[in-house]
Amino acid sequence: MTLYFMDGKFTEQGELNISIDDRGYYFGDGVYEVIKVYGGELYTAEEHISRLFQSAAKVKMTIPYSEGQMLEIARELALCNTISVGHVYIQVTRGAAPRTHQFPASTVVPVVSAYAIQNPRPTSNIDNGVPVKSVEDIRWLRCDIKSLNLLGNVLAKQEAYEVNCAEALLHRDGVVTEGSSSNMFGVKGGTIYTHPANNLILNGITRQVVLGLCQELAVPLKETAFTIEEAFKMDELFLTSTTSEIMPITSIDGHSIGSGIPGTLTRKLQKAFALQIPSIIAGE
Ligand code: PDD
Repeated sequence: MTLYFMDGKFTEQGELNISIDDRGYYFGDGVYEVIKVYGGELYTAEEHISRLFQSAAKVKMTIPYSEGQMLEIARELALCNTISVGHVYIQVTRGAAPRTHQFPASTVVPVVSAYAIQNPRPTSNIDNGVPVKSVEDIRWLRCDIKSLNLLGNVLAKQEAYEVNCAEALLHRDGVVTEGSSSNMFGVKGGTIYTHPANNLILNGITRQVVLGLCQELAVPLKETAFTIEEAFKMDELFLTSTTSEIMPITSIDGHSIGSGIPGTLTRKLQKAFALQIPSIIAGE
């Protein structure tokens, strides 16, 4: 039996009470998080919950729980559903109210829903790398908010999938921003480059983990954006996300990156990443 969280309680799918008037349906008016579970434990959960509250504040939404309560809900879902490797999905919408663009009355309470799902690590792609497609970044100018409104991301990912690419390499005015659901990194001459954490990208939790690992390993890293032309000439490219971890990129639009196989710095970071998580090392 799968347990979900909705309307303040843990419940089964058949009992979920979802309103057609939920502003998530009408406007994508909400925020969300995806938290990875390894060996039954949530990974970087505090950081994800903290970003959920930051996203909500940026869209002037008040989550009707504390950060501690949200953490407990996420932990409970992973535990009750006996998730070993997978993720917890949490979303908060501005609530259910008759459709008007402006915010509903302040008495309308945001709807918090969440579930946990078993989901294996994409080990083959992590080991072998993936091809990406360059796609123009047509999204809005608040990509720092982890909003439910993901049409720009959905269209970009689909464009990549239609040519058998795993991810879209988004570029705005010739500058690489991020992926449709990941952050992008390039390696040139031993230095790692990634777009600065501003309004044009989501400041990924995995991105922040990589920044920390680079510091620990004394690998030079610059939060400096690179152009799409520079991307083609990188020695290595990789993407990061909660579900993809650190994933090498082997080609852009069919052109090989470096020697077309995962590079040494990418491998070094992957190893350091895995070392923090006992269940990865144990091969579980
Ligand atoms: N996506 N950029 C975008 C646009 C994303 O949607 C994501 C995550 C990231 C990476 O963030 P993090 O390392 O915190 O997962 C960057 C999640 C996994 C998703 O939508 O499924």
